Order: sequence, then structure tokens, then C-alpha cells
Amino acid sequence: MSITSNTAFSTRTTQVMSVDLAHVLSQAPAGKRAAAEAALADIEPRMAVGIGSGSTVNVLIALLAEKPGLVDGAVAASRGSEQHMDAAGIEVLDLNMAGPLDLYIDGADESDAGLRLIKGGGAALTREKIIAAASRQFVCIVDESKRVQRLGEFPLPIEVIPMARSHVAREIVRLGADPEYREGVTTDNGNIILDCHEFRIDDPLALETQLNAIPGVVTCGLFATRGADKLIVGKASGGADTVLPAQVSMLSR
Ligand code: 5RP
Repeated sequence: MSITSNTAFSTRTTQVMSVDLAHVLSQAPAGKRAAAEAALADIEPRMAVGIGSGSTVNVLIALLAEKPGLVDGAVAASRGSEQHMDAAGIEVLDLNMAGPLDLYIDGADESDAGLRLIKGGGAALTREKIIAAASRQFVCIVDESKRVQRLGEFPLPIEVIPMARSHVAREIVRLGADPEYREGVTTDNGNIILDCHEFRIDDPLALETQLNAIPGVVTCGLFATRGADKLIVGKASGGADTVLPAQVSMLSR
């Protein structure tokens, strides 16, 4: 099958937002900055790179702006990241042309010891999940507050086709959780977000599969089928710890 590019499917936005990368860096909490700084060591010249979304990733983009030539172009997980990359002089690449990728770097809202994640606090979960799946290595950058024993204290975001909102909400209630419509938010894909409280997540992989099978769900914010390969945990006191799945090999992934 031949795959051609079609500008009608472009993910780029025409909206212009001014991004002040110096401000991003000066305002960055120490833990997020330490994680982003440590992730720079994973990037090799000429790698095909994907860049996630969120405030930690914005710090990474600001740091990349200070290293011209390290990443000339990358695939972005959100329009917000595209705008930060524009400000950093990093070309935004189309995954259809650039993939499969060598490396994906992204943040998370929670990570357990198996490097399974909850993501979607910034409503970019679907593109994040696509890029993670299309990447050989997924490096997740977080501060210490994101590490948890069990996923689920952070309300689980689910991206939903607008007409399916009530149906999906009823299914979530049937599964024992409490869905909350994220008011005023439309995803980059034109959908809505349900933030689901009180999910008891004993088996992230099973729940991810179950939720993604509900008609109307685009994807849920559980990243268990494709978790991170490496977690970089930035410390408020400076420096970062690296956590690898090998250290948690007793857990099912
Ligand atoms: C966006 C995400 C982000 O990675 C997650 O919300 C973490 O964000 P931050 O780095 O701002 O704490 O999943 O959809």
C-alpha cells in the first residue's frame, strides 16, 4: 500500500501564540527542570524524536533551544508543544513522514513502579499514546510528586467523541468510577475529556483494554500496554534518579 501525505490531515494549527521560552525556564520548578535536563543525555544527533506535551516537556523544549543542532525537527504531541517548538526553532514533523521514531520524551501525571502511567492532564493523551506506540524508546520525565504505589489517585482522563459523552459516562459509572466532564476543554482532535475519579486500578493493562473497548472512547489515559522504558525523576533538591523496568521485573507489564 502506498501512503501519501495529505495536507487536509495536517495537525498544524494556524493560531499563533507567543511563547517566551526564557520565562518557561525561569518559572520551572526545580524537579521538572532537573528531569528535563537529565533527558538531554538520551538524545543523540540525527535521531528521529517525538516530543510530548505539558509543562515538563515545555522546559525540555526551552533547553533544546539552547542547544541548536541537537534536535532540528521532531514530532509533537500537541498544538501547545508545536508552538513551543516553533519558538525554539525546532521544525514540527509529521509522524506519517518521520516515523517510526527512535526516541519519545514525555511527562506523566502518575507513574507506578512498573513504569505504567496515567497521562492526559493536559488533554493530549491520544496523540501522546500514538507517538509512544510509534517509538522504539519512551523516556518519561517527571518530578518526585508523580511517583505512586498504585495508579488512580489522579483522576483518569478519557478522550471521548462528543456525541458519546453520556453513554461513556454511564459505562464508567457501571465500572465503579465517577466521571467528571472537563468543562471548556476541546482536545486537539475535537473531542471532550471525562476525568474519572475513584477508579480502583488493580490491573492497569486490563482496565486500559476494557476502557478503550467502550464505543465512543478514543483512548483512555492509562499507558500500560505501552508504558515507559525509562523514568527520569527530577529532584527538588537538584539532580535526577533513573528508574528502569529491569528494577521492577517482578511486576507484570
Ligand atoms: C498531557 C500529559 C502530560 O504529560 C502530563 O499532564 C504531565 O504534565 P506536566 O509535565 O505539566 O506535569 O499527559 O496530556
